[in-house]
Amino acid sequence: MKVTVIGAGNMGGALVKGWAKAGMATCLTVTARTQQTLDRLKEICPGITAMLDNKKAVQGADVVVLAVKPWLVEQVIAEITPELRDKLLISVAAGVRHERIDVYAMPNIAAEFGESMTFVEEAEQAETAAELFGRVGLCKVVPQRQMAAGMMMAGCGIAYVVRFLRAMMEGGVEMGFYPDEAKEIAMQTMQGAVTMLRETGLHPEAAIDKVTTPGGITIKGLNELDHAAFNSAVIRCLKAGLK
Ligand SMILES: NC(=O)c1ccc[n+]([C@@H]2O[C@H](COP(=O)([O-])OP(=O)(O)OC[C@H]3O[C@@H](n4cnc5c(N)ncnc54)[C@H](OP(=O)(O)O)[C@@H]3O)[C@@H](O)[C@H]2O)c1
Repeated sequence: MKVTVIGAGNMGGALVKGWAKAGMATCLTVTARTQQTLDRLKEICPGITAMLDNKKAVQGADVVVLAVKPWLVEQVIAEITPELRDKLLISVAAGVRHERIDVYAMPNIAAEFGESMTFVEEAEQAETAAELFGRVGLCKVVPQRQMAAGMMMAGCGIAYVVRFLRAMMEGGVEMGFYPDEAKEIAMQTMQGAVTMLRETGLHPEAAIDKVTTPGGITIKGLNELDHAAFNSAVIRCLKAGLK
C-alpha cells in the first residue's frame, strides 16, 4: 500500500517515522511547506520519498493522509483534487470536515514509537484506515459522536499525562532528587503502573488497594488528592475541549 502524507509536522512527521519503523519506508511519500522539514525527516527515515509538490506526491499513492493544520485542509484538498480520483483520503486534522474526505482519524504523536492511541470514525473504508494506523499503535473504530472524546483522551491526553508526570517530578525535586532522577523515577513508576494494569487486567481501584495499607502513608497522599479535587480536575480537563 503506497501512502502519501501531506504535512510533515508534529503529527504527520510522527506517523511517517512510525510507519517507517514498521517497515513501510519505501512505500511512503511525504510533503511539507519547506525543504528544511523534509531534509530533517529524510535524515531520520532515509528510505522515504520527500517532495514539496503535493500534486506530484499524490499521483502514485493508494492512500493520502492529510496532516496539515485545520485551516489549510480546504486549500490543500482543492490543490490535490485533480490527482486524487478514487484514492482513499484520510484526514487527521482536528475539527474540520470536508465532503471529499473518506475517513477521519485521530492519532497521537506516540505514533512515532508505535504507541499511538488512534480513533478512526466509522465509514465505508474505516477498516483500511484502521489497519494502517494499527501499524503504529492501538486503533479503535468508533462512531462520529465519540471522536471528540477520543481526541481529548488520546490526542490531547498525551499532554495531560505528561503534565501529571511533570508534577511528580516537581514533588520529587522538592524532596531532594535531581530533576533527571525525578523524571526517570516518575516515568518508570508510570510505566510500572500501566504494565501492572495491562498484565493483570485489574480495575484501577483494585490496583490502588494493593499499595494502600490501612493507616499507612499511601492513603494519606490519596486523600490529599481527593481534598484537592484531583478526579474532578481531570474529568473537567477532558471535557473542556468538548465545549
Ligand atoms: N500535534 C498533535 O498532537 C496532533 C494530534 C492529532 C491530530 N493533529 C492534527 O494534525 C494536523 C497537523 O498538526 P501538527 O501539530 O502536526 O502541525 P505542525 O507541526 O505545524 O505541522 C504542519 C505541517 O504541515 C506542513 N504544511 C504547511 N502547509 C503545507 C502545504 N500547503 N502543503 C504541505 N504541507 C504543508 C508544514 O510544513 P513546514 O514544516 O515545512 O512548515 C508542517 O510540516 C492538525 O490538523 C492537527 O489538528 C495533531
